[in-house]
Amino acid sequence: MNTTEVSLDAQWMPFTANRSYKSAPRLLASATGMYYTSADGRQILDGAAGLWCVNAGHCREPIAQAIARQAAEMDFAPPFQMGHPLAFELADRLVAMLPDGLDRVFYTNSGSEAVDTALKMALAYHCARGEPHRARFVGRQRGYHGVGFGGISVGGIETNRKAFSEQMLPLVDHLPHTHNIDENSFSRGQPEWGAHLADALEVVVAERGAGTIAAVIVEPVSGSTGVLIPPQGYLERLRAICDEHGILLIFDEVITGFGRLGASFAAARFGVVPDLMTVAKGITNGAVPMGAVFARRGIYDAVCDASGPGVEFFHGYTYSGHPLACAAALATLDLYESEGLFARAASLERYWEDATHALCGTRHVVDVRNIGLVAGIELAPRRNAVGARAFETFTRCFERGLLIRVTGDTIALSPPLIVETGQIDEMMSVLGSVLDGVG
Ligand SMILES: Cc1ncc(COP(=O)(O)O)c(C=O)c1O
Repeated sequence: MNTTEVSLDAQWMPFTANRSYKSAPRLLASATGMYYTSADGRQILDGAAGLWCVNAGHCREPIAQAIARQAAEMDFAPPFQMGHPLAFELADRLVAMLPDGLDRVFYTNSGSEAVDTALKMALAYHCARGEPHRARFVGRQRGYHGVGFGGISVGGIETNRKAFSEQMLPLVDHLPHTHNIDENSFSRGQPEWGAHLADALEVVVAERGAGTIAAVIVEPVSGSTGVLIPPQGYLERLRAICDEHGILLIFDEVITGFGRLGASFAAARFGVVPDLMTVAKGITNGAVPMGAVFARRGIYDAVCDASGPGVEFFHGYTYSGHPLACAAALATLDLYESEGLFARAASLERYWEDATHALCGTRHVVDVRNIGLVAGIELAPRRNAVGARAFETFTRCFERGLLIRVTGDTIALSPPLIVETGQIDEMMSVLGSVLDGVG
């Protein structure tokens, strides 16, 4: 199929400049390993794991087979008052890889749903414990937590909120983000400066009263707003303040989960365990939509124990724990394990760091930052056209056979964890030469 055979009119595309896309479409037709094939037959090296999803590489046979087998065996099972073994088996497998303390799993279909589910769990928990006034959430500027009304309320991306601003959740405060080029430019791994920014939570507590705050939600590493890496000591400080005031800490690990940082989860990498964790994307290698919330047992117990007989938590999705998603997730976890992909990401981190930082000095580049197999390469914006330079870089890279992701004027790189060093070199070489040619 190429662009002349398909009409582009009917689909209202997500997070896309529909009009300009449809005048110059970029169509992908197939994928394998580290590469997409475009509809016009070109090989496209994947520098973005699709959209932070495909950690084990594309179209892996064991995952495809597991999905096909499950589709033939049992396509769907109702998840309310019913169950199927794979959903329970997967929950056990997930708990076994989680940091100690997180041991209950609730399935969703996406990161957005996982976030809204976690927010509801926090409210339900405090209600169950007799503290219904703990209803306030604290998010962070430049946070991305998906597109549900809960997620955009605690999120901190203005463009995602503007058109809906009259209907945000009412009780939300935002911490400052931690990105500061003046202090931390070209940092390798966690920047040294900025742990004190967590103290803004103390200010919110002082202003609002600890007894009004249900939860704080942050991405341990923000991805969608330009790869913002937590300063050394910052997450530890947030954890300590939450503990001091009985506030739940939620880590949104939709992109950091499943090996992206060279460990199972950011919580493991940083040694800071939240009370609730949201995941999606890499849980099925992107092959079937799935998300989840991981909770401390105490949260589950409190909600269940406070309830009379019958349903304890009035929340769930038709496709929670869908059989095809569970089959895909189990096969994905097998692959992560058998190929040691999280350790592989860790072992490649230094090479990746050196390769990405070699772009320092390239035209337009004002910052490079990295952790695990993620890098943010920030460009100077064009005057009066924020994001335009990065977007042109994205389209030119695609023409040159490289898929990158851009957000604002930052290029976010996050290749599948199977990436080879030669492919890392190729990414940097294409990117460097494209940047040289972009005005
Ligand atoms: C940190 C984070 N949370 C939530 C989401 C939303 O996930 P989804 O698009 O699956 O709803 C994303 C998506 O990129 C994300 O990066």
